[in-house]
Amino acid sequence: MRLIAANWKMHKTVSETQEYISKFLKFVEHPESREILLCPPFTSLYVAGKLLEGTGVKLGAQNCFYEKEGAFTGEISLPMLKEIGCSYVIVGHSERRHIFGESDETINRKLVACLEEGIRPILCVGEKLEDREAGMTFKVVETQIRLALSGIEEHIDRIDIAYEPVWAIGTGVPATPEDAVAVHRFIKELIKDLNPKSEGKTRILYGGSVKPGNASEFMKHSEIEGLLVGGASLDPESFAKIVYSF
Ligand code: 13P
Repeated sequence: MRLIAANWKMHKTVSETQEYISKFLKFVEHPESREILLCPPFTSLYVAGKLLEGTGVKLGAQNCFYEKEGAFTGEISLPMLKEIGCSYVIVGHSERRHIFGESDETINRKLVACLEEGIRPILCVGEKLEDREAGMTFKVVETQIRLALSGIEEHIDRIDIAYEPVWAIGTGVPATPEDAVAVHRFIKELIKDLNPKSEGKTRILYGGSVKPGNASEFMKHSEIEGLLVGGASLDPESFAKIVYSF
């Protein structure tokens, strides 16, 4: 089933979250026909979890730490997220990599921890503009995936991957569906190579300036098995239009 995920990033207080969810749920029908996922900031997860209970809309976090507990000031563990109803975690988002200096090794440890805890990670990968201009898109994406999945190849079927070209994030300039499809095909081949059994189980999502006006252009390609939406997910009606764009 295709997955349409909202990454709110650092937006919305608890009261704004409550308001959003009560509006958004009015648009939700046939939640069994597609997987719908909301990823609010940590402070809103608990209340969002309560409001989404029994609706079929899933809850995810935008980040996690890989240790279960301990002296890690400011971090949030997977058991904490699981208890409040998170079934997904976004791992290695471009903003984590480039603003907070998250390394491929850290991302790999987070994926290992997600698998141990039984939370499904969405691993984010994508090239910068200079990589694309240098013809390095496939190489960069391949390296990010190989390092992230190192040692856990046999569990790739329990992970989804979001292709988010850095130059398309928050810029209003999405990849063309054709360019996205080319990278998605490449990722599919790569993960088939890493683990033939994962075929058909790891979804490849596209993210980067997805809007209600362009979502269907992406979703008409079978290689695009979902979307990870930032800015356009902040308004419940706009996100609902994307959810029902196919
Ligand atoms: P935008 O949809 O705002 O470009 O953000 C994409 C993104 O980073 C989702 O994780």
